[in-house]
Amino acid sequence: MGCSIVSWRLQSSQRRCAQSHWSGNSRTAFSILAADFAVLRDELQRVSDAGAELVHLDVMDGHFVPNLTFGPSLIHSLRRHSERIFDTHLMISDPLRYVKAFADAGSDHITFHIESDSDPLETIRAIHDAGCTAGITLRPGTPASALLPVLPEVEMVLVMTVEPGFGGQSFRSEQLEKAAEIRAMLSDLGSKAHIEADGGVDGSNAEALAKAGVNVFVAGTSVFRHPQGAGYAIEQLRKASPFLAVK
Ligand code: DX5
Ligand code: ZN
Repeated sequence: MGCSIVSWRLQSSQRRCAQSHWSGNSRTAFSILAADFAVLRDELQRVSDAGAELVHLDVMDGHFVPNLTFGPSLIHSLRRHSERIFDTHLMISDPLRYVKAFADAGSDHITFHIESDSDPLETIRAIHDAGCTAGITLRPGTPASALLPVLPEVEMVLVMTVEPGFGGQSFRSEQLEKAAEIRAMLSDLGSKAHIEADGGVDGSNAEALAKAGVNVFVAGTSVFRHPQGAGYAIEQLRKASPFLAVK
């Protein structure tokens, strides 16, 4: 593998080598939920130019969470315009049923919720079989211990720092402790999986997140809607995180 933490696997040899995306430890992932959907291609370009290494794609089914977003066809369309790592976050009741569709659409990584109805180990296996890296996530109210059976199998754990369903919510600082707990659990297992934080992430909490063991920072509102622009916002994130500051 060559990196200090796990690499992203790609499903198509035509895509750029994952290794070239992942040359350091910490990365920013931009949630397109905060973008202007009427000009999504331009928005993707704007945040990629500003330094986003991952594109975070929030899929909601109106059932697992009280909101609806988009499905594989939108991801498929965006794939033609970006070589970034596509980090798909499934907030849906039955992720197993849709893994292949989201992988075929161009996801590099797929994260699903431990609270969903699908069998977690079977879902992780399906994600790997489809050629993607697998992530598990949990609602703020779910204890870290719920992840124990699946932790050895995943390449990333996503810590929700807001209740899933909507962008633009306030960061829940009590989730920092959970991130640290998960980092300790991963270390005990000898796993170097990524930990991603998602929800209300900005320059004011990135340092605390990094100290808790987070190395992938999802940002939507704080980047897309920053009055001084996406480039400035990512600069603030990088300054706040000791890992991100080193490119
Ligand atoms: C919430 C989503 C998040 C959200 C992040 O359910 O999973 O990815 O879009 O957006 P901000 O950064 O606006 O909280
Ligand atoms: Zn998300």
